[in-house]
Amino acid sequence: MISIIKRVAKRIGGRGAADAAGPAVVEGEAVLSDQNTMEAQVLAALSRVNDPELGRDLVSLGMVQNVRACDGVVAFTLVLTTPACPMRAQIQQAAEAAVRAIPGVTQVNVELTSNVSARANAAKESVLPGVRNVIAVASGKGGVGKSTVAVNLAAALAESGARVGLLDADIYGPSIPTLMGAVERPDVQNDRLLPVERYEVKLMSLGFLLDENAPVIWRGPLVARAISQLLSDVEWGELDYLIVDLPPGTGDAQLTLAQSVPLTGVVIVMTAQDLALNIASKALLMFRRMEVPVLGVVENMSAFVCPHCQQETPIFGESGRGELAAARLDAPFLGAVPLEPAIVTEGDEGTPSIVAHPQSRQAEAFRSIARAVAARVSVLNLSE
Ligand SMILES: Nc1ncnc2c1ncn2[C@@H]1O[C@H](COP(=O)(O)OP(=O)(O)O)[C@@H](O)[C@H]1O
Ligand SMILES: [Mg+2]
Repeated sequence: MISIIKRVAKRIGGRGAADAAGPAVVEGEAVLSDQNTMEAQVLAALSRVNDPELGRDLVSLGMVQNVRACDGVVAFTLVLTTPACPMRAQIQQAAEAAVRAIPGVTQVNVELTSNVSARANAAKESVLPGVRNVIAVASGKGGVGKSTVAVNLAAALAESGARVGLLDADIYGPSIPTLMGAVERPDVQNDRLLPVERYEVKLMSLGFLLDENAPVIWRGPLVARAISQLLSDVEWGELDYLIVDLPPGTGDAQLTLAQSVPLTGVVIVMTAQDLALNIASKALLMFRRMEVPVLGVVENMSAFVCPHCQQETPIFGESGRGELAAARLDAPFLGAVPLEPAIVTEGDEGTPSIVAHPQSRQAEAFRSIARAVAARVSVLNLSE
C-alpha cells in the first residue's frame, strides 16, 4: 500500500514523496480506493511543509510515518531529529494545518516522537559505538561556568527525553561529581566501568576514581591516555548525546584531548569579559583549525537581574555583547545565562538548575541553549 501512496503522491505533485517514489505512474493504472487517495493527499500536503531549521520538507526528511485515514479522521506520526527540537510546536502546527486544509478532513491527530540523528561515521568509530553525538563544552579560560553549562546542558537534554551521558574530561579540575551530587564510585563489570547515573544522565569523571586530595599533575600523552580510557573503558550503552566537559584553555592538553575524542561539535562558553580580551576567539580558532565544527557560543554571567526590583545590571559589560561577538566570530549564538547567585548554591548542592528550580530564569536559559545545541547538531548531521 505504501508504494501506491508514493506513486499517487507523485502524480498529485508531492515533491518529497516523489523523491522516494518508485517507477513513474503508468497511465490506465487500476482505480484506487478513496482511503488510499486520502493517505496520498496527506503525504502530498506534508511534502509541502518545511522543517524551518533543516530547510527541507517533512516527507523527504523521512519525518512522516504511519499515515492513516478513515472517514475524514487523519492520523500520522512526526519523527523529529531530536526530542529537544526548538521548533516542535511550529512544525506540529504547520503539519496539522496543511492536512486540515485537505477537503474532507475533519480531524487531525499528530503523534510526535523523535529519533536523534547521528554524526556521519558514528557507527564506524569503534571507540564509542553506541554514541550518536559527542558534544564538547570548552572555554578559553577557567572559571567562566563551563562545567555549569555542561551539567545543565546534559540535564536539559535528558529532561527532553534524550539518552544523555556526561564525561568530565577536565582532568585538572574534575567538578562534575560535585555539580551532579554524585559521590559513589563507579562499579566495574567485565573489566568495564559502569557510569554513575544522576538525574537521568550517565556520568563518568576522573574525580570518581581519584582520591579527593590527590594532585593531578599530568602531561600531554598521559592526559590523552586517561581520557581515551574514560571514553573506551566505560560502558556508555546507547546515547543520543555525550557531553564532554573539556579542560579550559587552548594549550597542548586541550588540543590532545579534543583530538582523542570523536567530536560532533563544540560549544564555547564565555563571559563578556573574555570577549573584550579575545580569549574566547582564541579557543574558537583552535577548534576551527582542528576542523571541529563550532556549534556556537554561550555567553555566561551575562547580566545580574536584581531579585528585588528585577532591574538588569550588566556586570562584565553591556548585555547583548555575546550575540554581537558571535556574529563577529561568524559562529551561531546559542544563548545567554544571567549572573544568578542561586547557580552557585545549586552547584554546591549538587543539583543542576534544570532540576533544582525548573521554572527559574536560569533553568529556562539553559533549556533554550540545549534546544539550540540540539537543533544545530541535527542541521550538521543532515548536511554531512
Ligand atoms: N551564571 C552564573 N551565575 C552565577 N554564578 C555562576 C554562573 N555560572 C557559573 N557560576 C559559578 O561560577 C563558578 C565557576 O563555574 P564553573 O562552572 O565551575 O566554571 P568552569 O568550569 O569554567 O571553571 C562556580 O562557583 C559556579 O557556581
Ligand atoms: Mg570546570
